[in-house]
Amino acid sequence: MDKAAVLAPWISPGRVPVTSEEHFAPSNIALCKYWGKRDTQLNLPVNASLSVSLGYLGSHTRLVPIDYSADEIWLNGDRLLPSAAFSQRISAFLDLFRAPGQCHFRVTTRNSIPTAAGLASSASGFAALALAVNDSFQLGLNTEQLSVLARLGSGSACRSVFKGFVEWQMGQREDGLDSHGVVLPETWPGLCVGLIKVDASVKSTDSRSGMKRTVETAHLYQSWPLQAAADLQQLRRAITVGDFTLLGQTAEHNALSMHATMIASWPPLVYWQPESLACMQKIWRLRQEGLPVYFTMDAGPNLKLLFERDQLEELMRHFPDMEVIQPFGDD
Ligand code: DP6
Repeated sequence: MDKAAVLAPWISPGRVPVTSEEHFAPSNIALCKYWGKRDTQLNLPVNASLSVSLGYLGSHTRLVPIDYSADEIWLNGDRLLPSAAFSQRISAFLDLFRAPGQCHFRVTTRNSIPTAAGLASSASGFAALALAVNDSFQLGLNTEQLSVLARLGSGSACRSVFKGFVEWQMGQREDGLDSHGVVLPETWPGLCVGLIKVDASVKSTDSRSGMKRTVETAHLYQSWPLQAAADLQQLRRAITVGDFTLLGQTAEHNALSMHATMIASWPPLVYWQPESLACMQKIWRLRQEGLPVYFTMDAGPNLKLLFERDQLEELMRHFPDMEVIQPFGDD
């Protein structure tokens, strides 16, 4: 099934798009990762995942219909070349909604994610774009449908339609209408996420091609769905009872298990830099010394630390350049 077939019931062909409001979607960090697709067209995952949204850090996006022959894509005040990969992904997403020959758009996106933080912006970017498309084309979708829409842009974006702890239910249906984010009712006011950028310069394989390579070439990947399912259950329990050790251990173990499948791919996918490993070893040492701190990592060399507010001062002494976010705090 393709994206157009999934979207057909939601689109009224004669609808003329209007200028949208500016829409915000937060960035998210997965504690149980999405890694591998059962449908690459629709970004349907092999496993369910769970994330925490990063509060006010994310993407602000607005759509303005324009009478030009191509879309004009602006990112953080700079106009992107139409040939840029990001522009092409956005235009392809907009093509799903406009009739052939119908207008183009000026897409203005501003990311409040600190550029030094090393966070991917495709999740918040496509979630904010989905909200803006819903507004511009007056689709009137509910939040589950908006999450499905965001997923068609980028899988992890389906979790960025919501705030707080979000589970992406993998679903069973071929059209993926049951594969979307769901908010967990719990909050965790003292939870902190520390962003540590160890290497700005590295150009790595993006998540999309990285997970494809893993699924196709790593025998070790066979065990990933089981690991992810068990981790998801543990994380749900940790969140329900407020057990930080269980949350941290499970998230770190999950991230390292995902990286093990990456390393077992061919050609090997090693996202770590020597500094990434040095930082992991420092965290393990601090933990041995009694400091409750854990980490998670995505498809890149940077680390995201997980700890509670009581440890903030001490951790800032060890990682003075760390950017700290309190997903549930009003800092
Ligand atoms: C490692 O959502 O960027 O960050 O669906 O192909 O757009 P596409 O992939 P993407 O993959 C994110 C992978 C991850 C783990 C996660 O966020 O769950």
